[in-house]
Amino acid sequence: MNDRLPLVIANLKANKTWDEMSLWLEEITKGTGSFPGTIIVCPTATFIASANQKLASLSSSLKLGAQDISRFEQGAYTGEVAASQIAGLVSYAIIGHSERRQNFAETDDILVQKVLNAQKAGITPIFCVQGPDTPIPQGIEIVAYEPVFAIGTGNPDTPENAKAVSETLKARLAALASIPSRSGRAKLAKGDYVVVYGGSVTPENTKSFLEKGMINGALVGTNSLDPQNFIQILNSAA
Ligand code: PGA
Repeated sequence: MNDRLPLVIANLKANKTWDEMSLWLEEITKGTGSFPGTIIVCPTATFIASANQKLASLSSSLKLGAQDISRFEQGAYTGEVAASQIAGLVSYAIIGHSERRQNFAETDDILVQKVLNAQKAGITPIFCVQGPDTPIPQGIEIVAYEPVFAIGTGNPDTPENAKAVSETLKARLAALASIPSRSGRAKLAKGDYVVVYGGSVTPENTKSFLEKGMINGALVGTNSLDPQNFIQILNSAA
């Protein structure tokens, strides 16, 4: 992960028309020029190519992420978006969001395939876990801790618990990396892993999750939709 921290991710889910999305990109680019970390916007798959062009035309520093990618490499899989098809357009992909696990029956084995496809395509996975014990595939450097009870409910985890979970996750990631990985990557230290928190993040609670550095960013759903709200979250994360 070479991008600067904190990492603040807008997961727009299946929201916004292209016109709304285009305006959102303009407003966020205008309002966040001095943000010291990395802003990643994850639009619905169909807007990825246009969002990429739009960000280039705005000379924006926002990075693009996918909300998901296919478990299949390519071929006869109607409706799927393969990692190789969006490589070069996105830098990141959210993999294993609880909404995908619940609504699309994504199992741990399927998620391993998705992670491998992302890595092969040069896309960095943002791997979502729902608790400290959720299985994590090898080679993951960025984890989003997203307890299901907190997603879209207005009922966030406590910063204390989220920090404790983050610490456990970083130790697990470091331990996983000591198993020789397929890519033979250099081993990272515990402090090199990034854990972001997601679940009812608001402009008011962002700071409490990020202070002291155990949590390195936020994954924001509902409160990313209104650009002014999201700018406030970025300001408190800065
Ligand atoms: P929320 O969603 O901010 O609406 O709770 C977070 C997420 O689903 O990633």
